[in-house]
Amino acid sequence: MKVKGMLLSSLVFLCSCTGQPTVNIVDVGYQRAEQQLVSQLKVIPEPEAYPRTVDKDGNLKATHKNDWTEGFYPGCMWYLYEYSGKESWKEEAVKWTEALEPLKKLTNHHDIGFLLYCSFGNGYRLTGDERYKDVLIEAANSLCTRFTETTGCIESWNYRKAWNGVDEWFYPVIIDNMMNLELLYFASKVTGNPFYADIANTHAETTLKNHFRKDYSCYHVINYDETTGNVLHKGTSQGFSDNSAWARGQAWAIYGYTMAYRETQRPEYLEVAVRAADFWLTHTNLPEDKVPYWDFNAGQEGFVPDWNYDPTNFQKIPRDASAAAITASALIELSQYIEDNGRYFKEAENILQSLSSPSYLAEAGTNSNFVLKHSVGSIPHGQEIDVPIVYADYYYLEALLRYNEFMKNKTT
Ligand code: GLY
Repeated sequence: MKVKGMLLSSLVFLCSCTGQPTVNIVDVGYQRAEQQLVSQLKVIPEPEAYPRTVDKDGNLKATHKNDWTEGFYPGCMWYLYEYSGKESWKEEAVKWTEALEPLKKLTNHHDIGFLLYCSFGNGYRLTGDERYKDVLIEAANSLCTRFTETTGCIESWNYRKAWNGVDEWFYPVIIDNMMNLELLYFASKVTGNPFYADIANTHAETTLKNHFRKDYSCYHVINYDETTGNVLHKGTSQGFSDNSAWARGQAWAIYGYTMAYRETQRPEYLEVAVRAADFWLTHTNLPEDKVPYWDFNAGQEGFVPDWNYDPTNFQKIPRDASAAAITASALIELSQYIEDNGRYFKEAENILQSLSSPSYLAEAGTNSNFVLKHSVGSIPHGQEIDVPIVYADYYYLEALLRYNEFMKNKTT
């Protein structure tokens, strides 16, 4: 593994093997996003409910600041502002971001990072508004209340029963939690207090030790004994089976450790990001268009689900465009840290070309005004199967901006 000596912030790209795309996927994606969000704002003009997905009848489903996804919608608006420079997008982004401020006190689950960093974090990055910084620091304090030295990690969910309704998850930590660490690294940078980054690093180290299998696929849920810190069980909630590779979980791992490497320069984080990415990219079950099945092992022999799986309902295994978008964004960043002859960038480009094609990119005015089609929320829960989901749109727009930056630097 050859490491590049450079940081994301420099945005100097060394890769040279990529060709120009045949269509400008950035313009295609952003024009469609703008059309869709303009229409969505006519459906819900005020930040009272935040678009998340569609229900079983295909109707828009929005949440009321009581879920983990509300930050993505203003995040999409910030990206539209960044791409277009239009003040109108900034005004909407400000409005939809600021309405989330009460969530800075949220301590009953770990997703405060998604909720506030995608909204206020982008807002602070693009405007420098000091009030946003203060909200983010308070949010980081809230997240840290879920950390214990004994376990060495941040508790994702409160106590709950596992799938069989018998086993108990006392201190469940999910791989997704890696994403919330960006908020903590941010808080240490702006306060100069290492407290937050120390917690982030301890969490990342514990996760590295317990969440990964030998092949660098990862478990979704680790259940810890909160009094001893011992691992009680390794399993899944949203994947096909305990031993399977849930595609979005793998995407969170690739993205999370790439981000943690950016923030710390610790080689062990880069190594796990690379190995998790290679698991994905070399998997025999990755479809030709590079948009994964919702789980790499769905329906395969040797993987036994403990939910009510009926193969006749899955003649066609659903894809997960959200996992593809998260991974594309992560791979563009990862490609800056590794001398790989542009391989990760090319893989990301392939994903983005697929997502920007009519197979995944919605026609204007369709798809309940979401940008991408064909994501999966949680098949074991019977929820959000082959639907649009707001976080797919968010990471798609983020990946396109990263892609744009890369291409600009390549040609200057
Ligand atoms: N963080 C929850 C999910 O990825 O579905």
